[in-house]
Amino acid sequence: MKRYTVALIKGDGIGPEIIDEAVKVLDAVSVKEGFEITYKEALLGGAAVDMTGDPIPDETIEIAKSADAVLFGAIGGPKWDDLPRDKRPETGLLKLRKALEVFANLRPVTVYDELVNASTLKPEVIKGTDLMVVRELIGGIYFGQPRAYEEDRAYNTMVYTKEEVRRIAKKAFEIAMKRNKKVTSVDKANVLEVSQLWRDVVSEVAREYPEVTLEHMYVDNAAMQLVRDPKQFDVILTGNIFGDILSDEASMLSGSIGLLPSASIGERYGLYEPIHGSAPDIAGQGIANPIATIASAAMMLKYQFGEEKAAKRIDEAIKQALKEGYRTKDLASFDAKEVVTTSEMGSIIAQYASEL
Ligand code: IPM
Ligand code: MN
Repeated sequence: MKRYTVALIKGDGIGPEIIDEAVKVLDAVSVKEGFEITYKEALLGGAAVDMTGDPIPDETIEIAKSADAVLFGAIGGPKWDDLPRDKRPETGLLKLRKALEVFANLRPVTVYDELVNASTLKPEVIKGTDLMVVRELIGGIYFGQPRAYEEDRAYNTMVYTKEEVRRIAKKAFEIAMKRNKKVTSVDKANVLEVSQLWRDVVSEVAREYPEVTLEHMYVDNAAMQLVRDPKQFDVILTGNIFGDILSDEASMLSGSIGLLPSASIGERYGLYEPIHGSAPDIAGQGIANPIATIASAAMMLKYQFGEEKAAKRIDEAIKQALKEGYRTKDLASFDAKEVVTTSEMGSIIAQYASEL
């Protein structure tokens, strides 16, 4: 029997609740597909600050690196907002991404037919949307040097090397080859040198993928196009901060940020997490939507372990649960037959995933 080890980072806020449901579903499909997952928990974010004073203890990096994949919930909250930057929960996550060298952040946006009324946009605009944001994750302005907060000014630096752009561009084109063969590269080349280099390198990489159509788009236009006509997109390739912003925007096409998963991958390691935050305002109430995390677990099975059938079981089970009208509170007003708790939603999906 195949065995995998997963480092489990529950984190803060709703993190523990949603991770528990993902584990429930993973356990259900592993039985069906004949593999076994063992879990090792690690601390990150506010939980780690409280226990050790450090948002990412060395042990967490060791556990993450020795596992076959990392499944992560969410971090942060008002309790830790006033800490110095190096002690903030977010710094822990950024360091983890860097340590694992997961340069490619894949954020698929699916609009479930059952939820076309849940978006603030018109159903005819969003129905059938199926796109993937490929966000560069360990470079750009998040990590650029120099950076400083000084007496009268502060600054950050947006920097990309050709090699950094090349590897993320290749990833985007490879993904496009398995999808609808279109890449929209998003930058601000009309203003920024770093974007001009981005554009030049992406165009160069595109020549290796003659079957894929490449278009370049300025980020301000892309933000507008995403709500005007999201169906025009297949793969959106972009840098760290533009990808951060555009993926939150794109999440609302689906109706709830609680639905969207992500995979962060590199040459070796993989980190799987929902794109939403820790939602401290609803933590511990059993109302969080676990679907984004469950779908992230499915991405882990697919991208990290090659367990495509098991991943498909989960994706289908999520659709089934929505089709049957089960809704967590965030989606309660959209064709709900029954409003369920976080844990009930996990159990329903686990059940469907084993039956399919
Ligand atoms: C995300 C988050 C993170 C980011 C934060 C928590 C550091 O917003 O994963 O999109 O900006 O990358
Ligand atoms: Mn974000």
